[in-house]
Order: sequence, then C-alpha cells, then structure tokens
Amino acid sequence: MKRIAVMTSGGDCPGMNAAIRSVVRTALSKGVEVFGIDQGYKGLIEGNMKKMDNRSVANIIQRGGTILRSARSMEFKTDAGQVKAVNNLAENCIEGLVVIGGDGSLTGAKILSERYGVKTVGIPGSIDNDLCCTDMSIGVDTALNTIVRAVDSINDTASSHDRTFLVEVMGRNCGYLALVSAIATGAEAVLIPEVKYDIEGIIGKIKERYEQGKTRSIIIIAEGVGSAADFGKVFGMIGGFDTRVTILGHLQRGGSPTVFDRILATRMGTAAVEALLDGKTEVMTALQKTKVELVPFKDIIGLKKPLDTKLLEIAEILSR
Ligand code: ADP
Ligand code: F6P
Repeated sequence: MKRIAVMTSGGDCPGMNAAIRSVVRTALSKGVEVFGIDQGYKGLIEGNMKKMDNRSVANIIQRGGTILRSARSMEFKTDAGQVKAVNNLAENCIEGLVVIGGDGSLTGAKILSERYGVKTVGIPGSIDNDLCCTDMSIGVDTALNTIVRAVDSINDTASSHDRTFLVEVMGRNCGYLALVSAIATGAEAVLIPEVKYDIEGIIGKIKERYEQGKTRSIIIIAEGVGSAADFGKVFGMIGGFDTRVTILGHLQRGGSPTVFDRILATRMGTAAVEALLDGKTEVMTALQKTKVELVPFKDIIGLKKPLDTKLLEIAEILSR
C-alpha cells in the first residue's frame, strides 16, 4: 500500500486530532503517503482532500475538535453518493482509508469495503461510549472530565441555596456518560435510557435526604431519557429544595483532550495504519483491558453495548 487517507466523521470529539496526527506520522514513517479528507463522507464525495506531511499535524495533539472537520452526509447513504466517493479515492490512487467516528461512520466504512473493495479501518471516536467491543472510545474521558467539572461547580451553588439541580448530559441513547458522571460527582440519582425510572421514588428519596440534613441534591439525566426541562416541571419544590435545570449541551464535546484520550487516540492511530499495511479491512481498533486490539466491524456495527450493571449498583449504594 503506497497511499492511504484519513477522515473524521459524525459528531466530533476531543482526541480526534491526536488520532489524525498519529495516523499521518505513523504512515509517513513507513513510507506511505497520507491524504486528509475534509468533512468526512461529504468531503470524500466532493473530492475535498489534501496531502498531509509531518508539519500539517504539528501542534494539534492538545486541541479539541478536528482539523479535518466533520460532517453528516445524507448523500453518502445513496448509491450515487457512494460511487462518487469511491471514484475520488480511485482518482487519487488511495488504497486504504482510516475512518474516525461513531457507529454511523463505521457503517459507511463497511459499505466502502464490502461493496467497493476499499480497505477500511475504523477508530472509535465518540463521547457517547456506545460502541461495542471497546472499553472506551476516544473523547469519552475528556467529556466525563468536562461534565464532572461542571457538576462540581453546580454543586457549590446548589448547596448554598438548598436546591435540587437536574443536569442533562449527552450520550444519545446510551446512559454511560450519565451513570459514570453521577458516580464521580456523588449525585443523588441518575436517569438513563437502559433502566426504567421511578419519578415518585426519586422525589421521595430527595425529600428523605432533605430531612436527613442534606443541603443539596443533584440528579443527572441522560438526554436519551428525555428533556431535563420537562422533568424540571414535574419536580418543582421537593421537601425544602427548590429545583433548577442545567443542560450541559455541546460544551461536553469540546475542549483539550485529557492525557488518557491523547494516548488512546495515539495508540489507535498507529494500530489503524499497521492494520491497513497488514492487509486488514473492516476492522476497528478497540481498547480491551489495557491492549489495543482489532475487532471486525460485524461484531460492532448496529449492536448495543451492554451497560456495566456493577456501575448501577455502585451508583445506588453510594448515593445514600
Ligand atoms: P456517528 O458516526 O457519530 O455515529 P452518524 O450516525 O451521523 O454519526 O454517521 C456519520 C455519517 O456516516 C453519516 O452522515 C453518513 O454519511 C454515514 N453513514 C451513517 N449511516 C450510514 C449508512 N447506513 N449507510 C451509509 N452511510 C452511513
Ligand atoms: O454522538 C455524539 C453526540 O454529541 C450525542 O451525544 C448527541 O446526542 C449528538 O451527538 C448531538 O448531535 P449534534 O451535534 O448533531 O446536535
């Protein structure tokens, strides 16, 4: 393989730049040329790509977002869009593609491989941590740290005013960010899509905690459960606690990546290039325990990552 390309697709996440840097420098070190595709499948269809060198990825390991930018492309879901994309790869003599993104982006990579014979390797990049077979995706650790910092700040003002705060966090249909941040901030309750919730039970618990002398109460709500603003209307005044709502929103997706994400992204970038040069295709780099392994797309795409039930148990016990 003489030339490969790299793209970021779907929702961006901190650590994507570290992964791009690793792909580019690893490939160049092995005498392979690298093209960077602008804005994921959209840029691939439009032929928007440029040759990268060591300097194109200088000074980016610490930056959030993605220098290659990202997009969601409806056109790539059509046969005509896919043919345009494949033709652009062929015209530029690109033999292998590294796709950094979530489940949808990997689905696109699988199609390129299965239908058109392009060799593709995926790197899991999504704050949601909803991709199967990898303990962590790139961006998750940074997003968690951002959420925890924000909830710690909310906690300060909540306890000064005897308030309950409902904090809505991202995660699409996955409750991982909510569950882990609830444990890390000592929240009183967490609502996640994977588990049926009991609002009356939660209200009763908050009243009880107020009577026991707690000065504030934090409830983390995963966006997949519903809008925190709607829950806010149901909660109102509980015991002596008045309720306020905070929706953290897209600030969870930005910011400088943590050391964990920089290293994970760097290791996965290297593994992805090595996999392509090894002739592998339709595989994703995955963190399993402490090792970066390769997992076939068929074991990941469209599947639901099981929730760690031990974490749920811990959240329940420690919120007393
Ligand atoms: P993520 O990768 O974060 O899950 P999306 O689900 O939005 O984000 O997917 C990113 C892009 O991947 C889509 O905009 C589309 O271009 C491509 N994609 C997603 N699903 C498919 C599909 N079923 N067929 C072809 N391309 C897809
Ligand atoms: O998949 C990452 C994510 O941030 C989800 O947590 C969230 O539901 C979604 O993307 C938001 O998408 P958009 O940036 O298109 O509003």
